[in-house]
Amino acid sequence: MKAGMIALGALLAVGQVWAEQVRIETEDTVILLEATKDRDVGWLYWGSKENVPSSLGWQGPLLSAFGGWAERDPALRVTHADGVLTTELVLEKTERMALDANRERTVLTLRDKLYPMQVAVTFTAYKKENVITQSVTLTHQEPGDITVHAMASSAPSFPEGDWWLTSFQNRFLDRWPNEMHLFEERLMPGTKRIANYRSTRSAYFENPSMLLSKGPAEEANGEVYGMALAWTGNWQLDFAMRTGRELEVKAGMAELGADYRLPPNKPYVSPEAILAYSAEGKGRISRNLHDYARNYVLVGGLKPNPILLNSWEGVYFTFDEKKIKEMIKDAAEMGLELFVLDDGWFGNGENARDGANAGLGDWQVNAKKLPCGIQGLADYAKAQGIRFGLWIEPEMVNPKSELAKKHPDWVVKSGARDIPQGRNQWLLDLTNPAVQDFVVQTFDDIMKSAPGISYIKWDANRTVANVGSTYLPKDRQANFWYDYARGLYSAYARIREKYPDLEIQVCASGGGRVDYGALAYHNEFWTSDNTSAIRRIYIQWGTSHFYPAKAMAAHFSRSAVGNPLNVPFPASFRLHVALSGRFGFELQPSHLTPQERKVAEAGIKAAKEYIRDIVQFGDLYRLHSPYLRDGYAALSYVTKDKTQALVFAYSLDTAYDKEPLALRLAGLDPNRSYKVEEVLTPDGRKPLPCSGQSHTGKALMRDGLTLPITKLYDSCLLRLRAEP
Ligand code: DGJ
Repeated sequence: MKAGMIALGALLAVGQVWAEQVRIETEDTVILLEATKDRDVGWLYWGSKENVPSSLGWQGPLLSAFGGWAERDPALRVTHADGVLTTELVLEKTERMALDANRERTVLTLRDKLYPMQVAVTFTAYKKENVITQSVTLTHQEPGDITVHAMASSAPSFPEGDWWLTSFQNRFLDRWPNEMHLFEERLMPGTKRIANYRSTRSAYFENPSMLLSKGPAEEANGEVYGMALAWTGNWQLDFAMRTGRELEVKAGMAELGADYRLPPNKPYVSPEAILAYSAEGKGRISRNLHDYARNYVLVGGLKPNPILLNSWEGVYFTFDEKKIKEMIKDAAEMGLELFVLDDGWFGNGENARDGANAGLGDWQVNAKKLPCGIQGLADYAKAQGIRFGLWIEPEMVNPKSELAKKHPDWVVKSGARDIPQGRNQWLLDLTNPAVQDFVVQTFDDIMKSAPGISYIKWDANRTVANVGSTYLPKDRQANFWYDYARGLYSAYARIREKYPDLEIQVCASGGGRVDYGALAYHNEFWTSDNTSAIRRIYIQWGTSHFYPAKAMAAHFSRSAVGNPLNVPFPASFRLHVALSGRFGFELQPSHLTPQERKVAEAGIKAAKEYIRDIVQFGDLYRLHSPYLRDGYAALSYVTKDKTQALVFAYSLDTAYDKEPLALRLAGLDPNRSYKVEEVLTPDGRKPLPCSGQSHTGKALMRDGLTLPITKLYDSCLLRLRAEP
């Protein structure tokens, strides 16, 4: 037993036998396990500390292995070195260690009854955040490789109930992505799986997160369980319901084609599963996860993120130095803090990145487009009083690039088969340490060539097709999925070690890497390439369930996607939607009408003065779901001390008999009086009647406010301040 660890256990009677109980607890929640030496470990309870049943029953094994009666789809399945297919796990030891005043780690080490194989199940409890993470590490000392066919991160069992699942998946509309669209369904006996088999874009089509509730999940009431996987690779979430409606969940790396050859004494580590339980609806789960993300996951989680202009939708690939300098100047004049030059700045001659067909891999600045170089632009930005950021996509290569010619063996390929192109590009094989070195070196070279860069947008625009690696031996090709993700993390970690304070945004064709694994190396994420305000209301709504606003880039653009009138949405509507996330812009400032520019500048000013702090560090309350389909959506952020709040409300459609929105607020101090003020009121509309009124928190939460924003795409932003 390590120093600082203590043996665990209260004794409890299970049937006739005295068994030991392990408690993994946060301030409000607890996981209870039955953990007796030399016996199988059982999952007894997960939920509120206040409601622990007086008699606890065995819900299922902590980690079911393929062996014995093998009654359920196993959480762990290996073929041992001698070809034996079965595993029987029993507890070897339990250890507990305080990491600090807020975090406690519990490790249950299981072993196979017969084979020298250990499975350590690690729980870390984040007490204040009411979050528990779980991961599994497998090691063995068998005489040769074993093959790991399946190893889940977490496999909790739930008692009989009317279980409902909420998942978040990309719903394509108008040929545009809509990441994190919310799907809710009642689970029925049988198995349901949500999975990503595309590796590099771990979260593009399906997000590795889910909620479980008895009955449809409510915002502020009822028991809700949440789980997210921290994994930028292939993953699966399985829900197996028995005919008695007991539910077995299995969450972890995807098993498809991923039979891992594991040599002796090399740890094989699952992704972390992030577990959260709330007895007060899913809103509490989101707030707890947001705190967890800010306090423990995101880089710079406690520092405000900048208000920026990204060049992509403004100019795409078509720019030169003059145009970029004009954009920088405009951005500075508008009051923005950072300019980000997106794709198109690199490659020369026939490898010039003037479109998506060339340039990737050849990371030299395009001397024709940008004779002053990247540092020249960074210097120019500095002279204008704003910071400079740059886009890169270092895992990818265009087939005709110099890099692809020099290192054909670095490309992901399946033997002699054709290498499919996605967006005209191939994927570099990050299982190969030389490729990891190249990615780290490329990043470093770019940073050294232009030390004025203070922000990077790291993109990844294709997935794996025809999987295979020239680097991996022929009997280890299936190690690709795990080794790629670990290779990516190793490159991220080395870059982070060298550039701890650099702001980095993760992007993969939009929200393709919005997962807790990637977020641990980044300050924020590009939520979606769909910047349409009406679509963003849904995208950001879904995203907010698991990921905090401070990381959720939301840009004011001129997109008309989803607007039947085919014109940009009203400027205030766009502004309000963008202000409710990590606020920024995605356009060519010179294309703004004077009215749009006025609206934008007022938004930037207010964001700097007070909106950014409340949105990025406040508690989120989703007040009125767009999925109610009554033409409204509303949400609010309340400061931790409950002295200030912002309420965002949107009118999504129009109906001849649409009633004003009756909106009950949440999260306020019932005993304080709040002054309500409408800010950034849309042009041409009078301030709402509630603006200027004072109400107690109690009245605002019980009776609410009436918001006559019935017109199509009307919206409002209310600022609430507690009165002394
Ligand atoms: C996909 C990203 O999501 C966009 O924001 C943009 O960076 C393009 N790639 C550039 O190629």
